[in-house]
Amino acid sequence: MAQEALAFDMYGTLVNPLRIWQQLEQYVGPHAQRAAELWRQKQLEYTFRLTAMERYEDFEQVTRKALDYALLATKASLSAGQKQHLMEQYNALEAFPDVQQGLQRLQQAGHVMVVFSNGTPTMLAPLLHHTGLERYMQDVVAQGYISVDEIQIYKPAPSVYQLVANRLHRPIHEVRLISSNPFDIIGAASAGMQATWIDRSGGLFDTLDKQPEMVVRSLLELADRLGA
Ligand code: LAC
Repeated sequence: MAQEALAFDMYGTLVNPLRIWQQLEQYVGPHAQRAAELWRQKQLEYTFRLTAMERYEDFEQVTRKALDYALLATKASLSAGQKQHLMEQYNALEAFPDVQQGLQRLQQAGHVMVVFSNGTPTMLAPLLHHTGLERYMQDVVAQGYISVDEIQIYKPAPSVYQLVANRLHRPIHEVRLISSNPFDIIGAASAGMQATWIDRSGGLFDTLDKQPEMVVRSLLELADRLGA
């Protein structure tokens, strides 16, 4: 099978946000789940709104502001140190159990692989190092990742998917996004990229558009599908 150019979303796709939820639970107790959901929801909403307003604040800042909202909404009050600790968990997340082996097989099969994320370089570099995933990512791009921070526009603007194609020196239809986030999948496909949804949420896809042709449950299944 042909060797492909694969761009992997980071949060929720390669790394599991579980540690953040656990930490939040220690701080806010029974409201933790709602706080965590609101935090993620607002984080993405703020990125979409900034893009619609043609403004940019980096993902770290957006994530902090979204946390403040989630805490206000659940009437939780955290010290500056506790908030800082939560933010630090972002750079110390664990990879999902299928990730190491899946990436290893894909690498052995000769696929070109990079991380492609809303995260800033100061978030992505330590996380790739912490998880040990940097060894699978291509050095065709510095340090194995492409951050939207480079052009200061968030997913799912078409220009960020084009950025990936440019960096990989391939036409966009020859690059495949792998993401667990339906908005990311729909954005990539809309920009002309191939897309594989990794379903880590039990089958719930956005109704804005149809599911992509390739849906997998793990990176091992992706490796099977791509002949690795
Ligand atoms: C990212 C978010 C969308 O890594 O998960 O880009």
